This record gives sequence, C-alpha cells and structure tokens, in this order.
Amino acid sequence: MTISKKIENIIAGASFIRKMFEEGARLKAEYGAENVYDFSIGNPNVPPPEKFNEILRETVGTCGLSDHCYMPNTGYAMVCGSVAEYLAKEQQAPVTEKDVIMTCGASGALNVALKAVLDPGDEVLTPVPCFVEYKYYADNHGGVLTTVATKPDFELDPQAISAAITEKTKVLLINSPNNPTGRIYSEESLKTVGEILAQKGREFNRTIYLLSDEPYRKIVYDGVQVPSIFKAYKNSIIGTSYSKDISIPGERIGFLAVNPAAAYREDLIGAMTVANRILGYVNAPALMQRVVACMQGMSVDISEYARKRDILCDGLAGFGYEFIKPPGTFYLFPRSPIPDDVEFVDALKVERILVVPGTGFNGPGYFRIAFCVDDHTIKNAMPGFKRAIEKFK
Ligand SMILES: Cc1ncc(COP(=O)(O)O)c(C=O)c1O
Repeated sequence: MTISKKIENIIAGASFIRKMFEEGARLKAEYGAENVYDFSIGNPNVPPPEKFNEILRETVGTCGLSDHCYMPNTGYAMVCGSVAEYLAKEQQAPVTEKDVIMTCGASGALNVALKAVLDPGDEVLTPVPCFVEYKYYADNHGGVLTTVATKPDFELDPQAISAAITEKTKVLLINSPNNPTGRIYSEESLKTVGEILAQKGREFNRTIYLLSDEPYRKIVYDGVQVPSIFKAYKNSIIGTSYSKDISIPGERIGFLAVNPAAAYREDLIGAMTVANRILGYVNAPALMQRVVACMQGMSVDISEYARKRDILCDGLAGFGYEFIKPPGTFYLFPRSPIPDDVEFVDALKVERILVVPGTGFNGPGYFRIAFCVDDHTIKNAMPGFKRAIEKFK
C-alpha cells in the first residue's frame, strides 16, 4: 500500500453514514429512487431564502478583478464586522470584527480552532452522542477525543464532565442544537459547566476552552432560544457555518468567533489566523463571504422542517416508537426497539428505509433519522417503520 496506515484504517472503518450512503445507492439502482426512503444524510432540502439568490446575483454583477484576489487570512474586514455586529446582539457580548475569522464551513472552523490550541496528546472532551467526525478532527491536530455521557434526556451532565476532565484536557467540544439528538443544552447547565471549566483550569493551571459547534442554532422550533455561549464561560469559541440555516453546505462558508473576554484573546486569534492559512484553507471563499455579510440573522423557512418533524413524530409515536421530540435540528433520535441498534437498522433496511445506527454517534441503543427530506418520503416510509417495529413486539 502507498497510502498512510492511518488513512487506510479510516477507510477500513468507514462510518455508518458512508456505508448507508453506499447501500442507498445500491438499493436505488435496484428498486428506483422513489421506492427507497433515505433518511441517512443531513443534507438540507429546504431551499435557501430568495434573498440569497438576489444577493448572489447582485454580488456577482458588481465584482471586479480585485474581488477575486487573496485577502487577509481572517477574511474581509467588512464581512467580519457584519458577523460581529450580529453576534454582539445574539451573544450579548461586545464582539468586534477583530474577534471573527471567516472559515470554510463549520468543519473548517473546528479544525482551525483545534490546530490553534492542541499540543500532541491533549484531550478534546465531548459529550456523547456526538457528530461522527470529531474524533478525526481531534486526531488531525495531534489531539485525542475523549467522551463523556450525557443525562438520559441527552442534557449535559456537569458532574460527569467534571469527573472526565484530566490534566490533559484542553477543549470541551459541545454541539447544541445537537446532531444527532436535537437537544439544546440549557442556560443553567452551560453556566454550571462554565464554572467547572474555570475551576478545573485553575486546578490544572491551564486554560480549558469551550468550543461550541453550532451550525443548527437557527433550526429550532416552538420559539425556543439557544442560550449564549459567551455568557456561560469566558474562554469560549464559537465555530459555525451557514450550511444548514441557509441551506448552502456546498458553498463552504462559516466562521469562528472568540469571546472578547477570553484570556490570551489576541494570541488565540493570531494562532487561528495562521492555522487557517497553513491548513491550506488560506481564506474562506471570497464571493460567499460577501453574500453572507448581507444575510445576517436570516434562515430558511423553518416552518418547513417543523412540518416534517410533526409528520414524522406523529407517525412514529402511533407505532410505539419512543423518542424526545427534538427542539432543534432536523434529526430525530428514537430509541431502538431492541438493544442492538445495528440489527434494528438492518430490519429497517429490509423495508428500504435508510437511517444511521446510534452506535455511529457513540449513542448505542438509538438510531438517527435525518428528516430533511420530501414530505412524501416521510409519509411513504410509514408502513415500513410500522412493519419493522412490529417484528420485535
Ligand atoms: C454537528 C455538526 N458540526 C459540523 C458540521 C459540518 O458543517 P459544515 O458543512 O458547515 O462544515 C456538521 C454537518 O453535518 C454537523 O452536523
């Protein structure tokens, strides 16, 4: 083999999502796409706001040569300023353009932040279930992902977090609203966790960062609010994107924002700026930066996802599935009717329903349904969901 052992192992242990994607392609070729109910991937299916197309056309129409050139690694000052102005209100903190770095999506943001703060062997602690890519992101920069359980309702468990922090912990990486559970962490638990991080930081004489991955912040239902992370803990960093809230994941645009109250704030921004460059991102896409600068606070029509959530939840509850109705994201994370979630996911596959076992997210005993699909896919899958659970009654 000529490729690295590490990548060889990653390919060999291909994620459940990837396997499901490949299985889906096979089933679609055999039975026709309309007869396969694919809930495996979180690819938004509500169109971007019309404003996005308008701004995009206008921006393209007014671009000159210099608008396609290299720029500061942090992004255009005007764009960082526009993000900061919005964030200052959202986070209730005096965020300025100097606290913001534009990135290639949330993935780019997380990798830049981890590159900036990790030394070899440092631990990145994350509550589970969690996004599948975190272990690779930590490993990319010499870190080690360690996990900590959440409460039975998937809320943060501050005591468990306190017990899991070691002298090697450098980052607590959280994601709220959460993929795969849809849970939004409460203001109270974030505040308690903030106090724990401050106390553990003093105990181990090091700064422990709270890195908040929040691409689903605007995909929330029933008027719920996602609490401010900057108010909860001073050494906090937000990494996020416009991928999900305005349905443009392929455009690779997001940002990092450092809490203006953070210790070593300027060092941190400087390190992240260099990391953005040397990881090869150099800067976030120029055109998209200019577009999102004019779209602060906007989102797709969330009522579309709310309707899909209701169709799905009402149907599944009627068949006896158990779950917490997600207050945010476009994921539902029901309990598997049998302890082995992989076996149950296989039973759904027989019905040509593709979902991801919770095991893939460090959440065994559950499975994830991404309901960012057409309404008729949800409705047509219902008889299969019913037959699958009945097999195990
Ligand atoms: C929790 C979480 N973080 C990060 C990402 C990556 O987002 P982006 O496409 O903006 O890089 C995703 C994408 O699904 C996600 O679910």
